[in-house]
Amino acid sequence: MSEEPNIMSGQSAGDDENLVEKSLRPQTLTDYIGQTKIKRELQVYIKAAKSREEALDHVLLYGPPGLGKTTLAMVIAHEMGVHIKTTSGPAIEKPGDLVALLNELQPGDVLFIDEIHRLPKVVEEMLYSAMEDFYIDIVVGEGPTAHPVHFPLPPFTLIGATTRAGILSAPLRDRFGIVEHMAYYNADELNQIIIRSAGIFQTKIDDSGAHELALRSRGTPRIANRLLKRVRDFAQVAQKPAIDSDIVTKALNLLQVDDQGLDEVDRKMLMTMINFYHGGPVGVKTIAANIGEEVDTIESMYEPYLLQIGYLSRTPRGRVVTPAAYQHLGIEYPHDQR
Ligand SMILES: Nc1ncnc2c1ncn2[C@@H]1O[C@H](COP(=O)(O)OP(=O)(O)OP(=O)(O)O)[C@@H](O)[C@H]1O
Ligand SMILES: [Mg+2]
Repeated sequence: MSEEPNIMSGQSAGDDENLVEKSLRPQTLTDYIGQTKIKRELQVYIKAAKSREEALDHVLLYGPPGLGKTTLAMVIAHEMGVHIKTTSGPAIEKPGDLVALLNELQPGDVLFIDEIHRLPKVVEEMLYSAMEDFYIDIVVGEGPTAHPVHFPLPPFTLIGATTRAGILSAPLRDRFGIVEHMAYYNADELNQIIIRSAGIFQTKIDDSGAHELALRSRGTPRIANRLLKRVRDFAQVAQKPAIDSDIVTKALNLLQVDDQGLDEVDRKMLMTMINFYHGGPVGVKTIAANIGEEVDTIESMYEPYLLQIGYLSRTPRGRVVTPAAYQHLGIEYPHDQR
C-alpha cells in the first residue's frame, strides 16, 4: 500500500486518487476554473500557434502541489488538438530515455515533464538543443566505434511543471517561452470547483456547504475534492439529504482542519515557532528539524499557503509568525519582545 499523505497536503495520494482525479479533470480552457490571467494568455498563444500551424512555445508551470498543473498541461494539448506524452523528471534517468520519448512525438505534440526540477543534469543538458533547435546530438557505440549522431526532432512543445521554480537552472528556465505562476484559488473559484465535482460524484451539496468547504480547502482544488469526498461520507452516515455547512464543520473539526484550512502540521509549525523561538525569526532548517518534516515539504507545501494568508512573513534572518497568526491561534502577541 502506498503511504497516504496528510489529507491537507495537496500532494497526490497515488493510484486510487489518480483515477478519481482523472474523472474530475476539466478538458477545455472553458471548463478549467480560475487562473484567469493564465487562461487569457494561453488562449491567445494557442490561437496564434494554431493559425500559424506551429507547435506552441514551451510552457513552464510552477506553483504548490494540487493547483492544477497536470490538468492544465492536458487542457493545453486538448486545445491544440495534439497528443500528450506524460513523464516526470526522476523517471528520465539517462539520455537514452529522453531520446526514446522524443522519438515517439509527432509534429506539434506535447511532452509533459512533471517535477522537471528533478531531471538528471545530463538529461537536462540534452534538452537544451531539443527545446531550442529541435535536434539532439548523441554518441552511439562505445570505445573506438563510438561516433556522434545528429538526431533531428519534430517541432514539439515541452510543458514542464514544478513546485520549486527557484531551484531550476537558469539555462533551462530561459528556454521556456511561456512561464506561468499558478496562484492559489479564491473562495469563489473553489466554490465552483466543489459544485462541479459534487455533480460528477452525484452528491448533493447546498450553497452553505460548498461555501464552508471552499474556505477550508487552503486555496487548492485537490484538497477541495479530497475534503468533499470525506464530507460526503459523513453526510451519508448522518443521513443528510445534502451536504450543508453544519456537516462540513462537524466533519472538518473531526479531521482537525480549522476554519482557515490549517491542519495539524501548520499549527505545529506555528506553535513551535511561537513557543521555542518567540515567533521568530527562525530558519527553515530549524523549523523542519523541530517538527520532523523535510525542508522541501515545508518550502513547497506548508509555507507558501501560510505566507499567502499572511500568517508567516519572510525576513533575511528567517521566518516570522505574524500578529494575524497569533490572533487566529488565540495567543496574545508579545509586543514587548520585538
Ligand atoms: N482549474 C481547475 N478546475 C477544476 N478542477 C481542477 C482545477 N485545477 C485542478 N483541478 C482538480 O484538482 C486536482 C489536482 O490537479 P492536478 O493534478 O492538475 O494538480 P497539480 O498541480 O498537477 O499537482 P502536483 O503538483 O501534485 O502534480 C485534479 O483532480 C483536478 O481535477
Ligand atoms: Mg501534477
